[in-house]
Amino acid sequence: MCGITGYVGPRPCVRTVIDMLRRLEYRGYDSAGVAVAGRPTAAGDTDVEVVKAAGKLAVLESQLHDHWEKQGTAIAHTRWATHGGPTTPNAHPHFSNDGRIALIHNGIIENYQELKEDLIRKGFHFTSDTDTEVLVHLVDHAFRAAGDMETAVRAALRRVTGAYSIAVVSTHDSETLYAAKTASPLILGLGVGENFLASDIPALMRYTKRVLVLEDGDFAVVTRDAVSLTTLEGKPLVREEFLVTWDEQTAEKGGYPHFMLKEIYEQPRALADTFRGRITDSESVRLTELEGFTKDQLATFTRIQIVACGTAYHAGMVAKLFFEKLLRRPVSVDVASEFRYSDPLVGPDTLCIVVSQSGETADTLAALREARRLGATILSIVNVVGSSITRESHATLYTQAGPEICVASTKAYLTQVAALYLLGLHLAGVEARLDSGLLRSYVRDLTMLPDAVEEVLGRALLVEELAARLAERKTFFYLGRGYDYAVALEAALKLKEISYLHAEAYPAGEMKHGPLALVEAGVVVVCFGTQPHLFEKMLSNLKEVSARDGLVVAVVPENEHRADSAAEYVLRIPAVRPEYAPIVAIVPMQLLAYLVAKARGREIDQPRNLAKSVTVE
Ligand code: F6R
Repeated sequence: MCGITGYVGPRPCVRTVIDMLRRLEYRGYDSAGVAVAGRPTAAGDTDVEVVKAAGKLAVLESQLHDHWEKQGTAIAHTRWATHGGPTTPNAHPHFSNDGRIALIHNGIIENYQELKEDLIRKGFHFTSDTDTEVLVHLVDHAFRAAGDMETAVRAALRRVTGAYSIAVVSTHDSETLYAAKTASPLILGLGVGENFLASDIPALMRYTKRVLVLEDGDFAVVTRDAVSLTTLEGKPLVREEFLVTWDEQTAEKGGYPHFMLKEIYEQPRALADTFRGRITDSESVRLTELEGFTKDQLATFTRIQIVACGTAYHAGMVAKLFFEKLLRRPVSVDVASEFRYSDPLVGPDTLCIVVSQSGETADTLAALREARRLGATILSIVNVVGSSITRESHATLYTQAGPEICVASTKAYLTQVAALYLLGLHLAGVEARLDSGLLRSYVRDLTMLPDAVEEVLGRALLVEELAARLAERKTFFYLGRGYDYAVALEAALKLKEISYLHAEAYPAGEMKHGPLALVEAGVVVVCFGTQPHLFEKMLSNLKEVSARDGLVVAVVPENEHRADSAAEYVLRIPAVRPEYAPIVAIVPMQLLAYLVAKARGREIDQPRNLAKSVTVE
């Protein structure tokens, strides 16, 4: 989604906000712009200077030659089109008719049409098709009455309904940044004699590790030396400052050609970090995050409901099988965008597990609110500290993947599955459901997963060979049963989102009910066979496909040879406990998707039409 940056202080402000914006490119965007409120010059300049351009940041940068060393207060923005196409006029910042106020916005103004008509009646003219532009004219209109920017920004915001985070600069008040948030994330970075704002932490890390996460309804007035936080109505607020422990390098490519590859290779570490401090020496799982729940309270949850979107939903599918096996109680898993409108059957007896990397996904947040409204207890599994979902949950288990920059999720997925395994084992331990020896062996096997993933990565050369063979194919099926079906869904999603190839996942037994009609020479069918009790069934499905000339790739544990003669290509993965196979089986598929996309010359880290954090419905 859109990226926002802002700076007030002594550095060259355009250089600073553009540099910060570059670190938000992963959010996906289609135009970019910057505005500077410079100090008054001898020539008496009073306009905010605005430069914007459709396309990638490089296009904007090519127009900034005279601006790089400018002093002043600046805001910058990358836009992901919602109202109005991805054109230069629609790019942010938008500016007032007198050129003295500029504003950037992330979100949607729902009542913009009626506000626009009213402003046009009052004589304001519009230069874009965006919902955002009404806001800057509203500020200007209010400034004409109040003569004071702070009052004007507050007054303008009181007239809009919808979701926003905004930042405003003006030459009425050129050493102050105004910012506010109701929905989309906004973070203040605190410096000495300078302050920053951004929609996400990686933008700030080069400059400061001290951050304040704004909450819905917060209004900030930011100068070089001070940050004042209030509600929109002016009631003072205190938000806790925290220190970001990620270093700058962690958020950059670290020598890999793409963030995706870097993040795939970070998975053993991400898994180990997710387990760290949560597994005791006596091989049990201890989640301090859940200490607020007593054993009796946990026992009242007769239902478990998981909600999430996309990859996080696939992690939820793994958890459903794991929890049902360990806890012997019904677990439902729903896509958040369906759940929120489904009049769901949840209530005070439900533990609702919300899974999200960003913690900002609009549908997931809405699903959380619906479950909460119905009385469910919310436990979130989230990667981004302080994000909206964590703030609205009763408890949060962080995944410790570190910043994930590539739009296609890899390490966040693996750590979501890992955190869900931890949760299942914790609950099984509290409820004393399993034989203690068995429970310990589950925990012990979990700790072996970082090494198992490392081993898969060590065999990447074999996946390279396969990718070279498959790169020109057009249609891919991924088939599995049980846990393998969840892996198939995630593997297909990875391939389609970054290579733009048609990839479908099916429960293997469903092929004969329709999709088998599509299998012919040239179609690639990846069959997962990691579940011993389902292997024979899977083998029949694999043979059905090879009999119809499909190119079969089998993904099987290293000690499994029954598919060797029927498959054209066999990828072997370490033999782990079958319930944990999703962790090792997905890794070669991430590599395959990456290598096929690379061979096809795709952009990879920022696939077309997609955004990292989907903060609109
Ligand atoms: C796919 C992918 C998406 C996200 C989905 C939910 O690779 O990353 O499908 O999983 O948009 O995002 P979060 O986890 O941030 O709620």
